[in-house]
Amino acid sequence: MKVYIVGTGYVGLVTAVCLADLGHLVCGVDIDPEKIETLQNGGCPIYEPGLTELLKKNLEEGRLSFKVDIGSEINEYDVAMIAVGTPERERDGRADLFYVAQTAKQIALHTTKNMLVVIGKSTVPIGTAQQISESLVSHNSVTSFHVGSNPETLREGNAVADFMQPDRIIMGGDIIATGCLRQLYEKIECPKVVTDTCSAEMIKLTANFMLAQRISSANALAQICEASGANIENVMQGVGLDKRIGPYFLQSGVGYGGSCFPKDTKNLIAIAKHHRIDHAIFQTVVDVNESQICYFMRKVEEMAIMTLKKRVIAIWGVAFKPETDDVREAPSIKIIKELLEDGAIVRVFDPVANVRREFSGKITHCDDMYEAVHGAEILLIVTEWECFKSADLKKVKSLMETPKIVDGRNIFNPSEMKQLGFKYSSIGRP
Ligand SMILES: NC(=O)c1ccc[n+]([C@@H]2O[C@H](COP(=O)([O-])OP(=O)(O)OC[C@H]3O[C@@H](n4cnc5c(N)ncnc54)[C@H](O)[C@@H]3O)[C@@H](O)[C@H]2O)c1
Repeated sequence: MKVYIVGTGYVGLVTAVCLADLGHLVCGVDIDPEKIETLQNGGCPIYEPGLTELLKKNLEEGRLSFKVDIGSEINEYDVAMIAVGTPERERDGRADLFYVAQTAKQIALHTTKNMLVVIGKSTVPIGTAQQISESLVSHNSVTSFHVGSNPETLREGNAVADFMQPDRIIMGGDIIATGCLRQLYEKIECPKVVTDTCSAEMIKLTANFMLAQRISSANALAQICEASGANIENVMQGVGLDKRIGPYFLQSGVGYGGSCFPKDTKNLIAIAKHHRIDHAIFQTVVDVNESQICYFMRKVEEMAIMTLKKRVIAIWGVAFKPETDDVREAPSIKIIKELLEDGAIVRVFDPVANVRREFSGKITHCDDMYEAVHGAEILLIVTEWECFKSADLKKVKSLMETPKIVDGRNIFNPSEMKQLGFKYSSIGRP
């Protein structure tokens, strides 16, 4: 098929590259000329394992192209997919549909053919596909548009594999839109859930809410464990073996971040409020997550003794999770802000991500993990990158001013750390 993808960010770019690799002819479009120039030259503007190789291959084999701005070439394509950002609206937390609306208008204005399938991939409030449809018709009364919803379920850091071998594909829309989606994904074998667009949109919000809810539950339970002498890791191992519960998303830590869970949970709360549905469960998931940073910072303050002012604090990991360069809504940002407010001197290391834009000139970015701990009084572990798990801890100890670690991701064994001579604190473990 010929696929036109609007938005070449984390979702749009992975979708474009993977659909091209499945044999489709794909054009990725973005309003950011710098991003498009990088892509046209075979460069990848984001860090995502395996993506650069696949991008180059499909460019060379002629199935993939990129261009700035939607234009009349859209008429050469069978389907247009919308993968633009839907950031949180400041006023009420609802997803801001400005970019989606802009895209729908541009698609309508440039389409002259009889029929076009338009698929929403962005995460949106329920009913957005219908609004896209109304917008298309209001700007173009000639073309027959069929709007579907195919919310993206990939995980950053594992996006290519998730796209190619997903647990399921959600297809919402009328028979023409879902027929188009079936054809698009015919080479991918997995359960395909075919439904209406509202349910498809709700599936995405529900999945992210349920996952965020599990993390917040694990974090709230970790606090009980720590206060009462239980070990959250052992507790969750025991609990996760219950087939009704399963082992995933039960890790406690510094809380969830990233471009999806924080905004999608708040979007769901705004939607619930709009419908006068006011159950505490929705807000509690967000509140627990926000309070988890305070819980972590209390540990840091206790470890620092008396004050953080002028204390050198090292941070390992600023990405919101391993294997990505994404720092949107990352817990590291809130932690660094608090440390700076308290007058600490902050040194960070992350294998691929950085927070230079957020803290320009205010903190030191180090070139390796050992450089970061040089002279530090406390090391904070904020992202569980593999390289940290195999760190030479004797070397770390010798480089630090005082051997103290607050581990927000529970990557080390508390008794081993004690044996090595560290003062060590983690989440939910005695
Ligand atoms: N990042 C994820 O892991 C993930 C996973 C599933 C779903 N989603 C959802 O997918 C959507 C996109 O997320 P993302 O992380 O890829 O965002 P992103 O910010 O990385 O990318 C969005 C891209 O859209 C471009 N854009 C904006 N307006 C445009 C327009 N009018 N025409 C062309 N391009 C335009 C921007 O320049 C940007 O490159 C969001 O709704 C998000 O919630 C994200």
